[in-house]
Amino acid sequence: MGVCGYFVVSWKCLVVLSLRLLFLVPAGLPVRSQGDSQSDNKVMENITIRQGETVLLRCSQGIAVTHTAWLNRSSILYAGEDKWSVDPRVSLAVLNEEEFTIKIENVDTTDEGQYICAVQTRSQPRTTSVHVIVQVPPKIMNLSKDIAVNEGSNVTLMCIANGKPEPTVTWKLLSSTGLVSEDEYLEIPSISRQQAGTYECTAVNDVSADVQTVELTVNYPPFVTEGRDVGVSLSQRGVLQCEADAVPEAEFEWYRDDKRLFNGMDTIEIEADGKVSMLTFFNVSELDYGNYTCVAINKLGTMNTSMVLYEVIEPTSSTLLQAFSPTTDKTVFSEGPGAVQDGNSGTMGTQASTCLLIIIGLQLLLKF
Ligand SMILES: *[C@@H]1O[C@H](CO)[C@@H](O)[C@H](O)[C@H]1NC(C)=O
Ligand SMILES: *[C@@H]1O[C@H](CO)[C@@H](O)[C@H](O)[C@H]1NC(C)=O
Ligand SMILES: *[C@@H]1O[C@H](CO)[C@@H](O)[C@H](O)[C@H]1NC(C)=O
Ligand SMILES: *[C@@H]1O[C@H](CO)[C@@H](O)[C@H](O)[C@H]1NC(C)=O
Ligand SMILES: *[C@@H]1O[C@H](CO)[C@@H](O)[C@H](O)[C@H]1NC(C)=O
Ligand SMILES: *[C@@H]1O[C@H](CO)[C@@H](O)[C@H](O)[C@H]1NC(C)=O
Ligand SMILES: *[C@@H]1O[C@H](CO)[C@@H](O)[C@H](O)[C@H]1NC(C)=O
Repeated sequence: MGVCGYFVVSWKCLVVLSLRLLFLVPAGLPVRSQGDSQSDNKVMENITIRQGETVLLRCSQGIAVTHTAWLNRSSILYAGEDKWSVDPRVSLAVLNEEEFTIKIENVDTTDEGQYICAVQTRSQPRTTSVHVIVQVPPKIMNLSKDIAVNEGSNVTLMCIANGKPEPTVTWKLLSSTGLVSEDEYLEIPSISRQQAGTYECTAVNDVSADVQTVELTVNYPPFVTEGRDVGVSLSQRGVLQCEADAVPEAEFEWYRDDKRLFNGMDTIEIEADGKVSMLTFFNVSELDYGNYTCVAINKLGTMNTSMVLYEVIEPTSSTLLQAFSPTTDKTVFSEGPGAVQDGNSGTMGTQASTCLLIIIGLQLLLKF
């Protein structure tokens, strides 16, 4: 104000003063000069632009124009060709008889708002205002880390995103179809092992989308499939198998009765490959026949199963026997530690072995 006092006829002061008055008009309404029916002020126009882009603010001029200015809220950016703004992103694009255009580069959300072009003609002032709306692509700011939980835990995954307009956040489990949550927070009460997997969070607005994933591991104790007894002839190779479903994957231990078996013992080998452990006898001897226990262990528990390695009397062809043994009742061929119990054997088994005997008989007949 002091400045205006000294330079009474300063155009800049006039602009400031007249604009002060103009700003009494509520924003968002068509801006009119006071009590003037012949005014050519326009209805406020919106310019929607993305953060980081360049916006051009254009204002029509005319031959009669004496002074013209672009304002950001109440501060002058340009008065004619004089730059008032100290912001390096603001520059003059065009100033001639037709138009007065300034440009703002690298637009940010703080630039959002009303911009006014004030034009002074010989007869009267007129203003045009534009509302600049700055859109921001969605960005996921705060996302849950990959986690491992125990089965039965209550789990909450979080995905906080910002953007303009406010993004919509949804969650889905990639291995299943459909959304699991339409919210920033995904709550899974008492989680089951089937709910483990890769969860995808999507934040969407008019501009674009941001997608991130979270790996959710559900730990559970081993579940060991019931062991199968295996029949092997003397001096043959024999393999006992043990399968355990567990997260984290189980470690396996093998026992012969109460005695732990280790790799490095001459005649056996223990290998584990993921869910399955195998105990291999390279050359089965009389002493190997017996009861073996496989124990699967992880940090949540242990489970075991026992199985018997039993002797089969070598028939005509061991390959034939092996081919059939999985479906037949091995007690037919077994001797030694007696009529090995096998939970799976029943009438079906007996019929199958009868069938096998017939086949063997036929093969023998055919050989002669
Ligand atoms: C400008 O945007 C506002 C909301 O942001 C809306 O209400 C208004 O109708 C828009 N004006 C024009 C001219 O599109
Ligand atoms: C417009 O004014 C606002 C508020 O003062 C400011 O934050 C923003 O940087 C200004 N933008 C330009 C392009 O001058
Ligand atoms: C993420 O959200 C958590 C919980 O609301 C908060 O403690 C943490 O500070 C946030 N981290 C960031 C980077 O915003
Ligand atoms: C999980 O939430 C339920 C109900 O909110 C609660 O009763 C239960 O104790 C919680 N379980 C755990 C492991 O925190
Ligand atoms: C298996 O062991 C027996 C007795 O120890 C031996 O006679 C035989 O040669 C061995 N067979 C193989 C393939 O090593
Ligand atoms: C094998 O050993 C386990 C555990 O010691 C026992 O429960 C199971 O009955 C035994 N099986 C046979 C056929 O002896
Ligand atoms: C096998 O499991 C049974 C019952 O769960 C347990 O009593 C036994 O000690 C286990 N055996 C081994 C060798 O861990």
